[in-house]
Amino acid sequence: MTLGDVYKEVLRLFKDKLPNSHLEAILIISLGLERPKEYILAHQEIELSKDELERIRELANKRLAGIPYAYLKKEKEFFGINFFIEEGVLIPRPETETIVEIVLSEGIFVSGLDLFCGSGIIGLTILYKGFCQRFLGIDISNKSIEVSTINAERLGVSEKCSFLKVDIRGLSLEENFDLIVANPPYLPTSMWNSLAQEVRQEPKEALLGGDDGLEFYPDIARIISKNLLKGGLFAVEIGGEEHIDKVKEIFLSYNIKDIRVKEDLAGLPRVIWGRK
Ligand SMILES: C[S@@+](CC[C@H](N)C(=O)[O-])C[C@H]1O[C@@H](n2cnc3c(N)ncnc32)[C@H](O)[C@@H]1O
Repeated sequence: MTLGDVYKEVLRLFKDKLPNSHLEAILIISLGLERPKEYILAHQEIELSKDELERIRELANKRLAGIPYAYLKKEKEFFGINFFIEEGVLIPRPETETIVEIVLSEGIFVSGLDLFCGSGIIGLTILYKGFCQRFLGIDISNKSIEVSTINAERLGVSEKCSFLKVDIRGLSLEENFDLIVANPPYLPTSMWNSLAQEVRQEPKEALLGGDDGLEFYPDIARIISKNLLKGGLFAVEIGGEEHIDKVKEIFLSYNIKDIRVKEDLAGLPRVIWGRK
């Protein structure tokens, strides 16, 4: 079977089942062969081995079953950096880059705290870009701590960061920071069943933030109010327009008064930020 034949086969499989079926087919074949996309398009006539065919068919069937491409590739780009990702951690979203944009435009920091660190993308990007000297990442899931540690090693910043597996609810930290970032789970629990099957492959605890999606903001505000140094910067992701007033109210109740809002690239209010 030639590359052209397998391309047609995968395309038939994906057609009407996945949006962008052409691109998806090329991506899956290129992943199966560990070759760039351009190679697939330029070498339609080459014969594939039995092993290569099997690998492509296995990946195509997993993709068809709703497994996100990032979990199959075990990689996702965030802020121009390729991060290791696997099942059990949230797949980084482009809107979360808004937090990094704010931090990079606000100066250089000494000590950062990344609450709900997941795969470590926010803190590690800031460290890697040289905008902070050290970072502590916190998450409740073992898998997140494992993946963050791998990403720190891949980026060569292990010595500048540490990760702590702990529940943020009620957490009391002794250390103070001049930068606190957070991307908490913020979807209302009732939304779970209406999420795309692909999104439901991601961990529930990374996405759901209680009945109104606001479960974690009081703890975030409490940690900012206690552990952020005077003049320090905070940047916290929110679910959109409907969260702004409620999150502002929560932050004000912890005496956090400088509250600004930054939109993401899609023009949606995405990050609540300010200086203490
Ligand atoms: C929206 S994800 C953010 C991951 C990563 N920062 C990102 O932007 O891709 C939320 C993270 O919060 C973690 N989490 C959920 N509940 C938690 C809790 N009670 N304490 C600490 N971390 C929690 C999840 O394991 C998940 O990794």
